[in-house]
Amino acid sequence: MQPLPAQQTINSLREHLRHHEHLYYVLDQPVISDAEYDKLMRHLQELEEAHPELKTGDSPTVRVGGAPREGFTKAKHSSVMLSLDNALNEAELREFDRRVSEGLAGAPYRYVAELKLDGLSMAVRYRHGAMVLALTRGDGSEGEEVTANARTIRSAPLQVKGQDGEFEVRGEVVMPNAAFQKLNAERETTGLPRYANPRNSAAGSLRILDPSITAARKLDYYTYYYLEQGGPVFESHWASLERLQELGFKVNPRRKLCDTVDDLLDFIREWEAKRDSLPYEIDGVVIKIDSLAQQRQLGYTAKAPRWAIAFKYPARQAVTLVEKIEVQVGRTGALTPVAHLKPVEVSGVIVSRATLHNEDEIERLGLAAGDTVVIERSGDVIPKVVSVLEHGAQRELFLMPERCPVCDGVVTRAEGEVARRCINTNCPARLKESILHFAARGVMDIDGMGDALVDQLVSTGRVKNIADLYGLKAEELAALERMGEKSAAKIVTNIDRSRGAALPRLLNGLGIPFVGERTAQILADTFGPLDGIRTLTEEELQKADEVGPKVAAAVAGFFAEQHNQDLIERLREAGVNFDHVKKEKIEGTLVGQTFVLTGTMPNLSRDEAKKRLETAGAKVAGSVSKKTSYVVAGEEAGSKLDKARELGVKVVDETQMLELIEHGKIED
Ligand code: IVH
Repeated sequence: MQPLPAQQTINSLREHLRHHEHLYYVLDQPVISDAEYDKLMRHLQELEEAHPELKTGDSPTVRVGGAPREGFTKAKHSSVMLSLDNALNEAELREFDRRVSEGLAGAPYRYVAELKLDGLSMAVRYRHGAMVLALTRGDGSEGEEVTANARTIRSAPLQVKGQDGEFEVRGEVVMPNAAFQKLNAERETTGLPRYANPRNSAAGSLRILDPSITAARKLDYYTYYYLEQGGPVFESHWASLERLQELGFKVNPRRKLCDTVDDLLDFIREWEAKRDSLPYEIDGVVIKIDSLAQQRQLGYTAKAPRWAIAFKYPARQAVTLVEKIEVQVGRTGALTPVAHLKPVEVSGVIVSRATLHNEDEIERLGLAAGDTVVIERSGDVIPKVVSVLEHGAQRELFLMPERCPVCDGVVTRAEGEVARRCINTNCPARLKESILHFAARGVMDIDGMGDALVDQLVSTGRVKNIADLYGLKAEELAALERMGEKSAAKIVTNIDRSRGAALPRLLNGLGIPFVGERTAQILADTFGPLDGIRTLTEEELQKADEVGPKVAAAVAGFFAEQHNQDLIERLREAGVNFDHVKKEKIEGTLVGQTFVLTGTMPNLSRDEAKKRLETAGAKVAGSVSKKTSYVVAGEEAGSKLDKARELGVKVVDETQMLELIEHGKIED
């Protein structure tokens, strides 16, 4: 075959990259892995190097990112947000060091090594100590204004003390792995598509029009840059990191000053080995010349600084064979195809299964049993299949079963839903999963009710629904496999204690579609006790915050079913708590009182103080008025304190506030 002319290959690569950039940067929905994207980009870069006459100003190689999405206003960056060149191995790192050394004409220099967090970069501006503007990177010179969203990120300070002028910080927004897993699990139960990895999830959560969603997503913001008038001000990068930390920004403590490439490599290898122990995903190590004078001396290429480089870790991918595809049945009856793999090691972990989510995913991948695939681990407990590398000689095309593989019950796919579900509510697989959910930590908290036990209880027919749990006796549990008398007795005690669980936990535990922890709390707070909820119409249910037609239909539908009604009656007979008492009524030493917080407290963060006050039943307001009961003033309290004095509102400090929370009054 004749090789294609370079121009044609370049055009095609550019098209591909633009397409994937759009999917990745604009829509937050990549369909190829980063490693594959990097490979395409490298290929294009090489071709452009070899054919400089074919370089253009609009090639993806000279651009830094994607265009801002409609719906957000754009704003110019104070100075361009550049990207970094990559080093993929030791040789490339040494080559970078050689260029640095040459550029500095033999003068001594040192590096700062920082973890390269895998999120999205964001610039935040402060004026008179207050956060006034937050921008995503966008195309590097112009970003999307996400101030309201950024303000919800707890690690991004809203106020910075002792900084009167204007300054800017830049850093990385990430979603910690734990938050990512929880979010995906929630999305799964509510029928929403999963996020591919924590980075996309962070991007999707920051660039969303409704900031309250960002707030619920537990994002984190790590800073690595301090600027004034678009440029750095400290004489060394290390000093600017320390300054950021002093100012109250989150700066990654996993960083190091390195004198030589070998020191850098030690740091790189150390964190590659410990990658799994970190609470967030990293994709490499960023290396910067420490001295600002030397950074200036080295300068920039068109795209990136000459004084910094990103050492990229290999993606945690591996190639293996899909031996078969099986279907699992979850507690909502959802059928999930799972790929059984020929066991393979992916950066230190043996992987033998990968989730395929649903049939659309299998179709998108073009996957069949017998194929050789690329799998990847990223932030998720279960690895995923990234792409099909080679079709097997013996391919077994996968078809979603028409009947449930566990109970042979009818399987349906509701309109607009990706998942197929087994609709037999007595399906043993569903039953097992729903009992595990009911007993889970944070739900009814029945410690000891694990997989092996539930398996036995369900397969012997001893437990046919959750109400049956309340009839279990210690003797019969003790007679089961892998059960001692002591643990049996403990479990029975735990079951007994769960009778008193708060109503939102029970509502969550019932496994009503779309009703998780938060919706359960809202339903209980709005309509509780249970007998007030179970009789509501869809229309009435929708009067609650955040309850739309879909949730309302699911709730009303659940309580309308005869066997669910029977279940509720049996739970009532078993003495399970159906009452609901709003928290503040129990613990409310401060019900009816309004507090305003100002300044920095010696021990508590503002969020923590707010939470404690609210738990005690108080309202926490943003501004002082005659109706304010107390102003809590910390160090460097501002105009709110003046206003309180002006209006004669009582002013207390942190200690007095804690006393108020405890006793509802301050002892003289
Ligand atoms: S410095 C001109 N430091 O990686 C300097 N970037 O490949 C640009 N990143 O766009 C960035 N951790 O989104 C820097 N400690 C760190 C970083 C970091 C993650 C990201 C950032 C940047 C990309 C560069």
